[in-house]
Amino acid sequence: MNHPLFEIVTTTLGVVSIRNKELNEIMHNPVGPWAEANALYVTQSDLRERLMKDLDTELVIFDVGLGAAANALAALHCAKETPGARPLRIVSFERELELLRYALKHAAQFAHFAGFTEAIETLLDKGEWSEGKISWELRHGDFRKLIENEKYKPHLIFFDPYSSKVNREMWSVECFKSLRAKSREAADGGTMLYTYSQATPVRVAILAGGFYLGHGHASGPKEETTIAASVLSDLEKPMGATWFGRWERSHLQIPFECAPEKAGPMRDFVRQHPQFRPRS
Ligand SMILES: C[S@@+](CC[C@H](N)C(=O)[O-])C[C@H]1O[C@@H](n2cnc3c(N)ncnc32)[C@H](O)[C@@H]1O
Repeated sequence: MNHPLFEIVTTTLGVVSIRNKELNEIMHNPVGPWAEANALYVTQSDLRERLMKDLDTELVIFDVGLGAAANALAALHCAKETPGARPLRIVSFERELELLRYALKHAAQFAHFAGFTEAIETLLDKGEWSEGKISWELRHGDFRKLIENEKYKPHLIFFDPYSSKVNREMWSVECFKSLRAKSREAADGGTMLYTYSQATPVRVAILAGGFYLGHGHASGPKEETTIAASVLSDLEKPMGATWFGRWERSHLQIPFECAPEKAGPMRDFVRQHPQFRPRS
């Protein structure tokens, strides 16, 4: 039977994904959920290596926008395939669980569900699932409210809402500030944030939220994505003079939600930011 909101589609690269009919957005388009989850979130974050470090301390991941769980499951597959890994806690935020229920019904079409259908049923039913040293918790509701009372501090953030065209509130300075408030400082291991967006207004919102900016790997047609960090020295490829020069020439210099009267101070903030004014 047709679902009113979702449908299974094949992307231009021939990969099975899910389209939200109301928003007309295909998830992880065009590379597909499994490839993007692994490339952008698991590989970029060096998850396997991180799981083999600091073996007595729990590694905490915030999975913002659980959706059809590709990113969370890619992390879980990685943990299961890493013998001797340290404890892992994934905290997934999602306001609309219908997408996951829909994907679960079509689990056979998605490689990432293999071996985890019962885990997802338990997560949906009880709000948590655990096995051995792995814990997975669901925060059901609006991320912007839930984050205020979140008790864990993430080492890694997989930031994957819908695009800023249709999910603008999630790409705001306020939203990144709330994540930065829960982030770790250098002494506590630092926090890294990974996202598929490369939009300049999004990057400025992340910067104004209190993170430093770095270049992320390419994904499908995007020549690069974004990695942010609470600690500048944790970025392998921090943005520098080249990005700053492009930003100066861009006609999209401020976050999407920034009011016209706040545009000047926001531009000054970027121009004076220590990341782009290195001490000589
Ligand atoms: C692109 S999908 C996520 C795909 C997912 N990460 C995956 O791996 O399958 C975006 C998700 O973000 C969720 N979302 C958007 N805004 C939200 C909010 N304010 N609070 C919680 N979830 C939100 C949407 O409901 C949607 O499921």
